[in-house]
Amino acid sequence: MDVINVGLIGAGTVGCGVIKVLNENKDIIEDRLGARIQLKRIADIDPERKRPIEIPRALFTTNAWEIIEDRSIPIVIELVGGTSVAKDFILGAIRKRKHVVTANKALLALHGREIFKAASEQGVEVGFEASVAGGIPIIRAIREGYIANRILSIYGIINGTSNYILSKMSEEGREFNDVLNQAQNEGYAEADPSLDIDGIDAAHKLLILIMLSFGALVEFERIHVEGIRSITPLDISFADEFGYKIKLLAIAKGENRGIEARVHPTLVEKGTPLADVSGAFNAIYIIGDAVGPNMLYGMGAGMMPTASAVVSDIAQIARNIMLGNSHSSLPKSLQGTTSIPSGLVPISEITTKYYLRFQVEDRPGVLGQIAGSLGRNNISIESVIQKGRHIGGEVPVVIMTHEAKERDLMSAIEEIDRFPVIKSKSVFIRIVDLS
Ligand code: HSE
Repeated sequence: MDVINVGLIGAGTVGCGVIKVLNENKDIIEDRLGARIQLKRIADIDPERKRPIEIPRALFTTNAWEIIEDRSIPIVIELVGGTSVAKDFILGAIRKRKHVVTANKALLALHGREIFKAASEQGVEVGFEASVAGGIPIIRAIREGYIANRILSIYGIINGTSNYILSKMSEEGREFNDVLNQAQNEGYAEADPSLDIDGIDAAHKLLILIMLSFGALVEFERIHVEGIRSITPLDISFADEFGYKIKLLAIAKGENRGIEARVHPTLVEKGTPLADVSGAFNAIYIIGDAVGPNMLYGMGAGMMPTASAVVSDIAQIARNIMLGNSHSSLPKSLQGTTSIPSGLVPISEITTKYYLRFQVEDRPGVLGQIAGSLGRNNISIESVIQKGRHIGGEVPVVIMTHEAKERDLMSAIEEIDRFPVIKSKSVFIRIVDLS
């Protein structure tokens, strides 16, 4: 039986998961692959650290370059994370004509162009199944399962931390900070949660999905990103009354005028599949022109789900090695040898429905003023709720709109927020229609 050696750089949580699954499911992997995956060397700055599995000390080195330079190792697994040394390791391995497997979405989102170009020049593979939605095989689905399709749109819940926080807020009626603190204490959220709750992690993953689905290497800074810090139990409860859940969605749509790419809290109609994705789960709802709508659902993070994705890349590359393939199988557009027009549609140009909440003085004519401004800006109202009756006090007025242009909505909100009867900055949340 063929033996394919691999070297692992970074024996943290996911690294240990890879070691564990390669060991525990060795027989089944060998049977399916027709070859043995042999973990030859592990590089980690702290070999002595307490780990969830026993690892023979002899496998360890503290010098990752020993793996990169080892001629008997054709596949290097980078699980260090971050965008500095990880990039050096990956580019170093590629220069040595080694295939690379990584879970590093931030690195691919920010430096994918350079990495894919180098891999293409050296005729090696970069496997990154684990970079998006952990254990869900979305990368392979887009590259292989949906290869016949023009991808029309993608709607992803691809940050488990945000989904967990929004689910808890919704189930328990609690404030954002309260749930975040608990999630941090229980280990569901990082000590510095900003990448997750500010939408950045989801945007990194969205960029990778856009590369594969639309053949476009877009610049990260041009993706419109909003997080969930400003979501309140009041908005969750009004959304619920209108028949919606609030989710942090990563959205990409292929339009004639370019690609729409955005991450933001979104009202998703109850009873549609994404609305039911709760807790730390991830899901990707993808629409192809031939296949129609599909949804993939599962654990988007964690030791074993992410390891499952890493090992799927190792096996795929091992197959190619056994077949003697010496070309990168990345899409030509990612290798920089063809280019697909990749303009992004500015957020001001999108058209969608909106949830609006205005905190107003409760007196005659206020609703008329708001409706007047919306009308002047071409925004048509679908329904309205006003709760409570506090003469002279402050009450929320909630409006659901028909489809409107974001630029028009911004003009209306700017105008409305200047009315003396408006007590605080008005809230708007985009709505997605997937029914
Ligand atoms: N921090 C990510 C999340 C998991 O909360 O989904 C790793 O991508």
